[in-house]
Amino acid sequence: MTDSVRDGQRDPVDDWRRLAGTAVLLDGFHALKHALRFGAEVPVAVAVDRDAALALADELAPDVREALRALLTEVPQASYAALVPRPHPTGVAALAVRPSREAGLARLRRLPRTAPVVVLDQPRNLGNAGAVIRLAAGFGATGVVTTGTLDPWHPTVVRGGAGLHFSTAVERLDVAELPPGPVFALDPEGEDIRGVRLPDDALLAFGSERSGLSPELRARADHLLSLPMRPQVSSYNLATSVAMTLYHWSLAGARPRA
Ligand SMILES: C[S@@+](CC[C@H](N)C(=O)[O-])C[C@H]1O[C@@H](n2cnc3c(N)ncnc32)[C@H](O)[C@@H]1O
Repeated sequence: MTDSVRDGQRDPVDDWRRLAGTAVLLDGFHALKHALRFGAEVPVAVAVDRDAALALADELAPDVREALRALLTEVPQASYAALVPRPHPTGVAALAVRPSREAGLARLRRLPRTAPVVVLDQPRNLGNAGAVIRLAAGFGATGVVTTGTLDPWHPTVVRGGAGLHFSTAVERLDVAELPPGPVFALDPEGEDIRGVRLPDDALLAFGSERSGLSPELRARADHLLSLPMRPQVSSYNLATSVAMTLYHWSLAGARPRA
């Protein structure tokens, strides 16, 4: 009998320790809810107060209540606190299997594409990357690609993305490996986006918080576009720039095609 199976019961803490090195941490009820909705494989999930977590599901997520009932194991507060970097107000945490890179790349490269890929060129801020993945999920973007050293599956990014990594393709690539499609790069010096229709197969590229678009990304860009901004304001925050651009893309779908 393994450590994980005693008295016919699996010990979720043992399972957790076995899987933690390779799995994706789903930190909090909402991350777990989103991951389940979008088909994540979740081998272990714990709650400090299982009844409270299921009551939250009754209220906010009846569609995944049964899945949660089957998955969630109650653990003492001290065991939970030892598993997560910082406790979440909902007292819920889970581990999910990270989707394969091959599957993610196939999804990103598949043509024809019905929604853009968002490219973050050398982003620095983990919270921004998470917010962008949440935006990509909301707008049904094909995926989010990052260049540079930031890991888009870092636990802080997954926390910022509220578990929505599982609804879209998220991979790190070099500029030379970007998926096919015309690159529309966002830069305050570009042409006004309001006069441009963004196609569904576009790669929408955004520069880093510190230094904007890299020379490599600029060289790959087919178009440079700017968001309306009055003089004396230097730039918008990265995630808000992505939000405005995806909203602009979505408007084209809402209008009759010319
Ligand atoms: C915080 S800004 C980068 C500011 C940076 N200091 C620079 O020199 O560009 C991050 C990214 O958001 C996008 N962005 C911000 N404001 C924009 C604007 N007014 N028009 C187009 N893109 C913008 C660009 O892609 C930019 O690289």
